[in-house]
Amino acid sequence: MSERWQPSPRAVQRMRWALIALASLPLGRLVAGAVLGTLGANPIEAVTHSTGTWTLVMLAVTLAVTPLRRLGGWPWLLRLRRTLGLLTFAWACLHALTYFWFDRFFDWADIVRDIGKRPFITAGFAAFVLLVPLAATSTNAAIRWLGGRRWQRLHYAVYAVAVLGVAHFVWLVKKDLREPLIYAAVFALLFALRIAGWLQEARRRARDAKSASPLAMRRKAF
Ligand code: HEM
Repeated sequence: MSERWQPSPRAVQRMRWALIALASLPLGRLVAGAVLGTLGANPIEAVTHSTGTWTLVMLAVTLAVTPLRRLGGWPWLLRLRRTLGLLTFAWACLHALTYFWFDRFFDWADIVRDIGKRPFITAGFAAFVLLVPLAATSTNAAIRWLGGRRWQRLHYAVYAVAVLGVAHFVWLVKKDLREPLIYAAVFALLFALRIAGWLQEARRRARDAKSASPLAMRRKAF
């Protein structure tokens, strides 16, 4: 059987830099637009929309890593997941900062009122708050400190971030639901693939446990 292609650590590092460059392109476009004055009649709105969209897109790309790794048989993809997760967080920070700064001028009392008053802001803020511990525990030291299982459990919160992100978008658009529903469908597909993966793994474990049971061993021996 032929050996599957595995990128070298150097190639993976190059892929990381390529991802960072690709995910930063829209930021370059926004900065150029702000400097040249080509962001339209409402530049703040243009920046909020763009940063919100890229947060959701990067989240979907990050969540696609595990199913793609399994379906394509590309285990090395896992080595890019942390970079993708951190890029999602970076876009979320830019998005939140646009709102805190240019929409509310860092008026924290007003921000707290708005979070309590408008459900779409509540959902967006909750999604952002959930992203913070995920980004903070993305280092190897944090994984060691928490232990693999606890780290894994904490990082399941990324699914809540996706649900809240889509709810935030649905609440915002109210009428023309086409775009948020496309994101909802993509996330639903990614969740379904993930659940299929868990079921397959559980079945494999049950099979392994059965074949390793003392009775099965004795049967094999005779
Ligand atoms: C502190 C947290 C957040 C705040 C305050 C916030 C606020 C906003 C605001 C004010 C808008 C524009 C509303 C308008 O056009 O009137 C918006 C749009 C949006 N936000 Fe957020 N948001 C937050 C977090 C998030 C997160 C975490 C995500 C993704 C997971 C997200 C995804 C989006 C999307 C997709 C849009 C719409 C983009 C479009 O119109 O194409 N937001 N957000």
